[in-house]
Amino acid sequence: MNKKIVIIKGDGIGPEVVNESVKVLNAIASVFNHSFTYQECLMGAIAIDETGVPLPQETIDACNHADAILFGAIGHPKYDNDPNAKQRPEQGLLALRKALQLYANIRPVSVYNSLKHLSPLKENILQDVDFVIYRELTSGIYFGKKTLADDGSYAIDECLYKKDEIEKIAHLAFKAAQQRSKKLTLVDKANVLETSRLWRKTVIDIAKNYSDVQVDYLFVDNAAMQIITNPKQFDVMLTENMFGDILSDEASVISGSLGMLPSASIGNNLALFEPIHGSYPQATGLNIANPLASILSAAMMLDYFNLFTEANLIRAAVQESLSKNLFTKDLNPTDFIGTTDVGNFIEQYILKLQKSN
Ligand code: IPM
Ligand code: MG
Repeated sequence: MNKKIVIIKGDGIGPEVVNESVKVLNAIASVFNHSFTYQECLMGAIAIDETGVPLPQETIDACNHADAILFGAIGHPKYDNDPNAKQRPEQGLLALRKALQLYANIRPVSVYNSLKHLSPLKENILQDVDFVIYRELTSGIYFGKKTLADDGSYAIDECLYKKDEIEKIAHLAFKAAQQRSKKLTLVDKANVLETSRLWRKTVIDIAKNYSDVQVDYLFVDNAAMQIITNPKQFDVMLTENMFGDILSDEASVISGSLGMLPSASIGNNLALFEPIHGSYPQATGLNIANPLASILSAAMMLDYFNLFTEANLIRAAVQESLSKNLFTKDLNPTDFIGTTDVGNFIEQYILKLQKSN
């Protein structure tokens, strides 16, 4: 199979973790006779430094001609504490999601036996947890009209949702539930927000087409509590942009480290794959970043290409590295190996298959 992949390394630890994913993809290509070609593009703080804007037009054009995008991380501390900054790295990612219409962000939450001790949750709560968050990604308060009064005395962020935007991701989430444990939980704030009432009404209507899926409705405050107290009840969690942003970071504590969670952002004909973690500037260049979220994002990309055997091989290699205690520092601060060592182990695990064939 031939695939054109745009690589956006981005900021902070982005380049380091993406390099490991490319290593792993190359091993897969070699064992299974695929051809992956890569084109590197700029986005984020590095793009502001080099081109003056967080998302150059060339990056959008390259993405539009690619089969998929592998993205690292975005953000730089020099912008975080400067509310007056005219350009922000994050604007690049938001603009790319919008430009490519990547409307569904899929964030699987799983528990690894060898990492259970790292989670602040008790072991009995972690038992059998396996769910996936479907977060709407191109609308809502993130993309509503923003207003700041001339005298700085008030600010407005508008939250707007159109019915068809809700329908699109809801169908995707229901289809995913049908392939999984046939349960979908809509998370909203329908007791307060008009947009949430539209979400609820729309999902109630759509649910009629998926009678094999059991549907639950939870207010977001309650959902935030249930993710910690009873996460095994969830199968597919469907929610709007901002709630999904917050709940997916919260859910990452279940896996034991933010460094473990991959994600896929799906559009009509294109998808982007990125770790959930951010740019972790303090770790940049130290060879301590956990590459597994990025490597597992690459596995999700292979799923998207329908290369399921290949994707599962990467997951098996990740399991193997965890069970052999080959961890980066976030998973074991006293006994750890480097970012590149983890990548090398996974690469070699895959290449070994070639030798045994
Ligand atoms: C995420 C991130 C982004 C978001 C930021 C970097 C804009 O937190 O992908 O979850 O809020 O969507
Ligand atoms: Mg986030």
